Amino acid sequence: MPDFRDIKTDGAWSSAEEEAFVRTLGKPAKEAVSRAIRERGYRHTSCHGRAGINPLVFESGQGSILKDADGNRYLDLGSGIYVTNLGHAHPKVSEAISRQAKALMNCHDYMTPVKAAFLERLSGCLGGDLNNIHLYDNGTTAVEFAIRAARTITGRHEVISFFSDHHGKTYGSAALGRITPSNGPARPSGFHLVPRPDPYRPVWTGQDGKIDTDAYIAFYEQYMKEATTGLVAAFVLEPIQGWGGTIIPPDDFLPKLAHLCRSRGVLLVTDEILAGSGRTGKWLSADWWGVRPDITVLGKGLGNGFPMSALVVKEEHAWALPKIAPSTTFGGNPMACAAGLATIRAIEEEGAMELAVENGKYLLERLEELKEAHPMIGDVRGRGCLLGIEFVWDRETKKPFIEAASEVYAECLKRKLIPGVPVVHLLRLAPQLTIDREMIGTAVAILDESIERVEEKFGMKGGLGDRRATV
Ligand SMILES: Cc1ncc(COP(=O)(O)O)c(C=O)c1O
Repeated sequence: MPDFRDIKTDGAWSSAEEEAFVRTLGKPAKEAVSRAIRERGYRHTSCHGRAGINPLVFESGQGSILKDADGNRYLDLGSGIYVTNLGHAHPKVSEAISRQAKALMNCHDYMTPVKAAFLERLSGCLGGDLNNIHLYDNGTTAVEFAIRAARTITGRHEVISFFSDHHGKTYGSAALGRITPSNGPARPSGFHLVPRPDPYRPVWTGQDGKIDTDAYIAFYEQYMKEATTGLVAAFVLEPIQGWGGTIIPPDDFLPKLAHLCRSRGVLLVTDEILAGSGRTGKWLSADWWGVRPDITVLGKGLGNGFPMSALVVKEEHAWALPKIAPSTTFGGNPMACAAGLATIRAIEEEGAMELAVENGKYLLERLEELKEAHPMIGDVRGRGCLLGIEFVWDRETKKPFIEAASEVYAECLKRKLIPGVPVVHLLRLAPQLTIDREMIGTAVAILDESIERVEEKFGMKGGLGDRRATV
């Protein structure tokens, strides 16, 4: 078993622990054991995934720290992949799963005491009439059923989603996103994509040069008229876009989209798989604008690492769920419900959503300092603990600096910081909601140094210099 006696289980980071971590920075990581495990494992799978750029073998984790097979410790600023909102191996969640595993693991879709308790608590968290739930074991499945539910409720079949949003990789969910040769060959009929308002890269602006939400809404209206049969079942979107761009919409966007939907009998389906479950400081990120969807889906952080997701429909649409035969083999299994219940309790006990807002605000302020110091940072943005850095060649032209994100990511890894995965020219950050402030300071100092290395490599100059924090 890995030895975590020197790391506190509540995620707090004492100055002695921080110093111990900082002493390891810059030293080459030991990697003999990891290399042997990699060789063994990849003999039997051709999918190297992240290991292509990140050849690490992780063995254990606690809070925001991951430990590899050689005992090197890494600071995880990606929460796995936006999953471990309360940190790795949260003691109460792990304990609840193991207790349940000894009692009952599967009884298909029968009700269980733990499922009843979880459904009750989740429905309480979502509030109002978002109270009809069906459970799954991954995000894409919940999205597939959301599409089927929307079609059944409306009796219509077309669906409109948004540029760069990500909804999953199975047939229907992939059709809501960017089509590539690997998930093509073409978008299935009835699926449409439209641009979403991105305040940093607006398509339509008003006379004041600011993003013009009304122009987007007018375009969607015209699009429905010109490019669909008129039988649109739903708009599907990530209220705050996570994976594709960490895009926070203008404040009037969601209310205006919801109004458009209502006026045309179209359902509003929000994908909260990434941004929900407290990551932005609310159970649903759409709550930032007081917008209630007809259907929503949750996943990722819902079980703090245990695979689970939820399809939620408004009470008035509850009749539709039995009609789509929604049950699956593992959806709503007792262990998932135990994990979900323990996660909700821990979020409340630890004030994790309030901390997400405070920590995210603090990290964003520190990222603003980095932006001032580094010419290749075009924009930094975020809500709660969902943040991103956009790299550009030039702040005027905003030409995307594609190489930068993976170069900075690689430099961070050398310094034992794991940011969220880079996407095109964007580096994403998704710390544990309850992360310690000292850890944020350490992470920002590593980011600063890493960005400086990349700027040097590409002939740019920047950096916090003496203002660099603790490292
Ligand atoms: C917003 C969103 N929806 C759906 C999915 C798909 O979830 P899963 O990978 O669990 O199938 C993802 C995954 O990244 C996501 O970010």
